[in-house]
Amino acid sequence: MRTTVHPGGFRGGETAVPGDKSVAHRWLILAGIGQGRSELRGLPEALDVRSTARCVAALLGGSGGAALEGWASQSGPVPDGDRSTTNRPRPRGGGLAIEAQGRGALQPPGRSLECGNSGTTMRLLAGVVAAARFETVLEGDESLSRRPMERVAEPLRTMGAEVTTTDGHAPLRVRGGRLRGIEYVAPVPTAQVKSAVLLAGLEADGETTVRESVPTRDHTERALEHLGAPIRSEAGSVRVAAFRPPGFSGSVPGDVSSAAFLIAAAALTGRALTVREVGLNPTRTGFIGVLARMGVRTRLEVEREELGEPVGSLLVEACDGLRGTTVEADELPLVVDEVPVLALLAAHASGETWFAGAAELRVKESDRLRGVAEVISSLGGTGGVRGDDLVVGGGGLAGGLADARGDHRMAMAIAVSALAARTPVQIEGIEAAEVTFPGFVPALVALGARVD
Ligand code: S3P
Repeated sequence: MRTTVHPGGFRGGETAVPGDKSVAHRWLILAGIGQGRSELRGLPEALDVRSTARCVAALLGGSGGAALEGWASQSGPVPDGDRSTTNRPRPRGGGLAIEAQGRGALQPPGRSLECGNSGTTMRLLAGVVAAARFETVLEGDESLSRRPMERVAEPLRTMGAEVTTTDGHAPLRVRGGRLRGIEYVAPVPTAQVKSAVLLAGLEADGETTVRESVPTRDHTERALEHLGAPIRSEAGSVRVAAFRPPGFSGSVPGDVSSAAFLIAAAALTGRALTVREVGLNPTRTGFIGVLARMGVRTRLEVEREELGEPVGSLLVEACDGLRGTTVEADELPLVVDEVPVLALLAAHASGETWFAGAAELRVKESDRLRGVAEVISSLGGTGGVRGDDLVVGGGGLAGGLADARGDHRMAMAIAVSALAARTPVQIEGIEAAEVTFPGFVPALVALGARVD
């Protein structure tokens, strides 16, 4: 589907975003392996989160599974949204009760677990079924089937599960078994593999330790600690021992990675913006530091905690002009999902911006390293790849046509970049935004953007 975003129009103001995808995946999984009733509010209707809900439902079976499956299947995705200028951001998703009887009660799903486009679903669930006494097959869509799965298979094998990949990719076949704790030194810092190993470690004999060279998002650790798990995080490592989570309740905070697109829109157009009820976990707000170096002033106000997650408001002040910056390799894991939007912002800045050591971007939902560079070039800017670095020349974008390549973050980054382009930008495939940010276009429109 082709959509046109016109320059200007964005006036800022106040907004909210759907619930956090990373948090929602984890809480759904913890509720599914929990003992008792869990009540989750604010789950986003994002396609990725529905994939996790469906897979957990298949493992639960019975009435617990039926409720979850019902939630995942309600009101289908909204591929094009309602673009009327009076539209408001869609309200955050509703509540859901999940009844579960602990990990030992999980059922053989009777079919492959379909993870759709979601790497987090596949990798985290691999860690869950690694301890199940049956075989599970995990499948994904075309994009997910191109992404590396040996990185999660390998530590789970060391723990004692039988895991087969298809030439290093999905489908992934996991025959669970009795697991032993390991000390795992992650060759690539990734929160998905860390979380998979920790989830497997909850059922293992002995302690499980994950060491990472640079910190990655810590939602799994925070939730487990809040639920009373024997978990210890220290600089560069996290250690967990066997634990059976109880049922719990919580309201998923707004997704700060979704908010990043609206924040970038405000920064680009020099408008003030307040995002309410958003997750402010410091392992997710790294992009705020990058924006500060580019000349954007923000304020974070933590108001409360939900299952160990800080929640509050994020305020962006009106800024007058952006400048280029350098994002070093050890900063990258903390801004990994925001690179597309930061790079498109950088294309409008003065001076050059470098994202150093960004090889991981090659194995996201699309090859974002090449994709971002190509999108910037197709919109009349300068973007290039030098080794594993992404280099963006500033000076502004002319506009034109750009393809989202089926990648949600590419689609939203292109839409935002249009707000300061010299002529309108046509986006091929804006509907990909539904993967994480259902209602993205209406949210942008509600803040003044002109989209048709
Ligand atoms: C995620 C971790 C990141 C991120 C993804 C979500 C998670 O992936 O890019 O969108 O929820 O754990 P990696 O762990 O592969 O870096």
